Amino acid sequence: LTSGLPLPKPFTVPLPRPAPARPGADGVYELVQRPADMEIIPGFRTEIWGYGGTFPGPLFDVRTGSPVRVRMVNRLPVPTSTHLHGGATPADSDGYPTHLVVPAPLTGTFHAAHGGQAAHTSSVWRLTPERFVHEYPLDQPAAMLWYHDHRMDFTAPQVYRGLAGMFLVRDGVEDALPLPRGERELPLLICDRAFEEDGSFRYPSRDPSLLGEPGVTGTHHQGVEGDVILVNGAPWPEAEVDAARYRLRILNAANARRLDLRLDPPPPSGAAFTQLGSDLGLLARPQPLDRVELASAERADVIVDFGTYPVGTEVVLRNALGTGAAGDVMRFRVARRAADDSAVPAILADVPPLTAAQAVTSRRFDFRRSGPGAHGKQWMINGQPFTPSTPLASPRLGTTELWTLTSDFHHPVHVHLGRFQVLGRNGRAPRAIDAGWKDTVDVRPYEVVQVLVRFEGYRGRYLLHCHNLEHEDMAMMADLDVV
Ligand code: C2O
Ligand code: CU
Repeated sequence: LTSGLPLPKPFTVPLPRPAPARPGADGVYELVQRPADMEIIPGFRTEIWGYGGTFPGPLFDVRTGSPVRVRMVNRLPVPTSTHLHGGATPADSDGYPTHLVVPAPLTGTFHAAHGGQAAHTSSVWRLTPERFVHEYPLDQPAAMLWYHDHRMDFTAPQVYRGLAGMFLVRDGVEDALPLPRGERELPLLICDRAFEEDGSFRYPSRDPSLLGEPGVTGTHHQGVEGDVILVNGAPWPEAEVDAARYRLRILNAANARRLDLRLDPPPPSGAAFTQLGSDLGLLARPQPLDRVELASAERADVIVDFGTYPVGTEVVLRNALGTGAAGDVMRFRVARRAADDSAVPAILADVPPLTAAQAVTSRRFDFRRSGPGAHGKQWMINGQPFTPSTPLASPRLGTTELWTLTSDFHHPVHVHLGRFQVLGRNGRAPRAIDAGWKDTVDVRPYEVVQVLVRFEGYRGRYLLHCHNLEHEDMAMMADLDVV
């Protein structure tokens, strides 16, 4: 998708840090989802839909085992559902797509309009007027999670308008490591957008009110990519850094764009990145990487040592998969020498590797565009379009399963509640970036990816879906009943 306004010059806007989320006097974090104006492209006004009226939403910084309650208040013109991606969350609070918070002006009309859709029986809808309190027990290791909209059929356009934020979980294991912290820890939410002539977001919705026909027009079925790269909501920003180690908490929050991140120039010595962690927490040991490949929703926790560069160096974070301006992400300017007492220890955390011998069940999930169906060809899992309340599998709580994932295209496969380790790709060893506990894995065209997955904590209805958000909205999703 190409913007209709002149693109800003890269590396002229400073990198923003999202505002911290803070609990209210009652201990509950309240996020009002509302429209707000933002100057994303200098000189232009963009209406965003944001948690707390901000894009990205407020940054949570919370602790393992300290339950968090988040009250979502919907002041948008559409229903919403919020999912904490990577959270080990009871099903009730997980943000199931038909569990909607309906804003006051739509209460009453929305159910009538949507209860009648052919594929949906009205019993799957849980419509809560105006507000809903999510309970997040956070009984899980330190990791960077994220929260975003998950409304049935409309996740892609609603996330695109700004409904996404980062959620850091800390624990004692991480505290004990001498890693860079404070100003030297940078959460980076990377996504892409296109803009209309007037500065508003450009997105090819069939019905831009997001109350009628869902989905996108024409060729956008593959997934929507914009030509402007945003980091924490700013176009191609620049960050001034000390000549020291930084910890980058990178999230690919794009609807569909894939990242293959490199440093340009690469450091004079050593690998560009030292990876500490993956989607769901620390690796057992740090690993050197020259590139960080992330599909939609994947996260990487990496160290970059700017101390290896001469002061004055401008280091561009580039995406080798982007063309033209979309090949640049942001720039770091090494501004000054500075003391650095951080270190990367040789051992990070206890991550016991799962083995195929532990698997009690094997399943196969095929991600493919197939048809013809009622709507012609569409994105499906095992030949089935998403039908709420018809589970494709019922994994048992506390057991390990071996899943084989196959595909016809790039599909970042994501599972709610479950955590997995990648066992292999096409019968060979996984890539370095596949290491650790994951909740999303990039399944590439005609690839066969095997993962060992575990469901722990809660029984109930969860989801398996493609995290290319346009694919997700076009039915590439399935129920998992954890029993
Ligand atoms: Cu990031 Cu089902 O979600
Ligand atoms: Cu997909």
